[in-house]
Amino acid sequence: MLNTKPIVVAIDGPAGAGKSTVAKLVASALRLRYLDTGAMYRCVALLAKRAGLKESESEEVAALAERSKIKFIEDGVLLDGEDVTKAIRTPELSSLASSLSAKPAIRRVLASRQRQIILEGGYVLEGRDTTSVVAPDAEVKVYLTASIEERAERRRKDLVATEHEVSVGELMKQIAERDARDMNRSDSPLIRVPEAMVIETYGLTPQEVAAKIIERARSVTTHS
Ligand code: DC
Repeated sequence: MLNTKPIVVAIDGPAGAGKSTVAKLVASALRLRYLDTGAMYRCVALLAKRAGLKESESEEVAALAERSKIKFIEDGVLLDGEDVTKAIRTPELSSLASSLSAKPAIRRVLASRQRQIILEGGYVLEGRDTTSVVAPDAEVKVYLTASIEERAERRRKDLVATEHEVSVGELMKQIAERDARDMNRSDSPLIRVPEAMVIETYGLTPQEVAAKIIERARSVTTHS
């Protein structure tokens, strides 16, 4: 029988490896929708911050997350109807999102929503745990890697675009801390699943990285 369900492409990897840029390019080339799972953790961090909840109050944060509406729009995200695209990109929220994302209660709420979103297929999703937990059956699984220096430089450029200036040295420190937290947490740590296509992005443009994934996705669809 012909498999007509559109494919899912899951892109995993550490902070600043270029997952979002590459995922958007792949989604656009393959006419799939794009799901930025990290933005959902950032939205939850914003909710927690505004409610004055501490990291230790993860059950309360998870309950808030459960009641919230996160909606993706062209190039942005709405949290309960408010455009929070820029507000969720500050260094403070990066750090809070990373801490909260280690909490099983919060992961449960968001991972289940993410699975629901991609159920019918037709998505490129990116974020830590997408190849291992959210979409283990994805037709294409990718793990992007890059050195800490490169990732810090990428983050610096992103932050300049959102009017937050931070030095590369400070960003390298933050990224190393986040890597350690993301890889060592007990619930859904950042891992490289054995079947993932590993792409070392050093010296490659986002377009070149995307081209490798697109080629893999096309070969999967023509062989299924
Ligand atoms: O990709 P990002 O920097 O926007 O993600 C923000 C934080 O959320 C990051 O520290 C790790 C966490 N995260 C996660 O644990 N699982 C995901 N699927 C996506 C992000």
